[in-house]
Amino acid sequence: MRDLLFRDVRILDPGTGRDERGDVLVSRGRISAIGRDVGKGLSGGDALEVIDGRGRWLVPGFVDLHAHLREPGEEGKEDIASGLRAAVAGGFVDVCAMANTRPVNDSRAITELMVARGRAAALARLHPIAAITRGLGGKDLTDVSELRDAGAIALSDDGRCVHLSSVMRRALQYARTFDVPIIQHAEDHALTEGAEMHEGAVATRLGLRGWPREAEDIIVARDCIFAEEARARYHVAHLSTRGAARIVAEAKSRGVAVTAEVTPHHLLLTHEAVVGYRTECKVNPPLREAEDVAALRKALADGTIDAIATDHAPHAKGDKDVEFAEARPGMIGLEICLPLLLGLVRDGSVPLMRLLSALTLGPARVVSLEPPRLVDGARADLVLIDPEARWTVARATLSSKSENTPFLGEELQGAVEATIVEGRVVHRRDEGRVVHRREEETS
Ligand code: DOR
Repeated sequence: MRDLLFRDVRILDPGTGRDERGDVLVSRGRISAIGRDVGKGLSGGDALEVIDGRGRWLVPGFVDLHAHLREPGEEGKEDIASGLRAAVAGGFVDVCAMANTRPVNDSRAITELMVARGRAAALARLHPIAAITRGLGGKDLTDVSELRDAGAIALSDDGRCVHLSSVMRRALQYARTFDVPIIQHAEDHALTEGAEMHEGAVATRLGLRGWPREAEDIIVARDCIFAEEARARYHVAHLSTRGAARIVAEAKSRGVAVTAEVTPHHLLLTHEAVVGYRTECKVNPPLREAEDVAALRKALADGTIDAIATDHAPHAKGDKDVEFAEARPGMIGLEICLPLLLGLVRDGSVPLMRLLSALTLGPARVVSLEPPRLVDGARADLVLIDPEARWTVARATLSSKSENTPFLGEELQGAVEATIVEGRVVHRRDEGRVVHRREEETS
């Protein structure tokens, strides 16, 4: 593995608040020097690759708490290798993979299989999230200790809510003993039966069955009470309502160990996007209203929301090219997450450092991963970003096996040029432009 020198790059580290131009040297998987003159006198060759950082940003690698990689069981939509390729194309170096695989990841065998497939891919690091209940059935708890020992980083029945109070209460108590976070898909199924989109004026207009905000809010409120009593770590998946944001803020202010994530699509789109019965906008929880979007942006900016998570949910064409009621919910997100969200920085909704923190330190903290940092001696997990590059989301630009995103065909500004995991370049967007080794060598 060659050493890497990023020359004259904008260094952004949310942990220290550092934002300055300089050189960053990476050797043997670690950041070995940072500063103005670090690269002086060094030139590229067999032992060192020099990367021109002019006009580029260098930031710590991203952590995704919520991705559906579909392996085992639905490898036609995605598998662990293709999902991790999509992840590194989006700047993610750690990916937590949800348990709603087929069969469900509720066993040591599946957790171990996922860990092994992740290692074999040798791209981003994969962390399985195991189920809270067997078969996502909502009744019998899985064996936390066994799953944790096999490599599970957290527990979640995502896709389904742990609905029964008796089960959720016990799950939190049990997880507390093993210090494993419980991630809840907050949806009171009694309020969402047959629901196809957010309950509101658009649903009425389209004649679609509505999913009210309260279905999310009451589960989050109930769970915060359980988490407080159990002194357990409770995390809200894909938080989508203004009410849930308020409940989380209030619980946090009382010292409850609650954390929350938000997806790019809930930060950017409203239920209006569904007009035209656009199945690519069908997602669970559903796209909400402008006031929810505003509350989510504010909660992200003020730290109520800890993390951005993609909820990357690949689906086949046949799952989406059907009537709205029949369409499967979900959209892909790993590769477009950063460029989509840079728009929020440009329009002043979220400061850049806060956005980077919610992609790195925030999620790492939720699942107790080593904090991604761009400091001397840190593990070299890095993302090189061209903030000006413009590109169009298209089948040909995606590494995912699926293309179910409402942003298909859209031109985005900002691109991940290279992703480095433990000092190894695992993704390059455009070899000719990113790497200037040949010019360096001949000069
Ligand atoms: O839209 C969604 N799709 N929400 C979920 O919670 C599950 C996911 C999936 O697995 O497709």
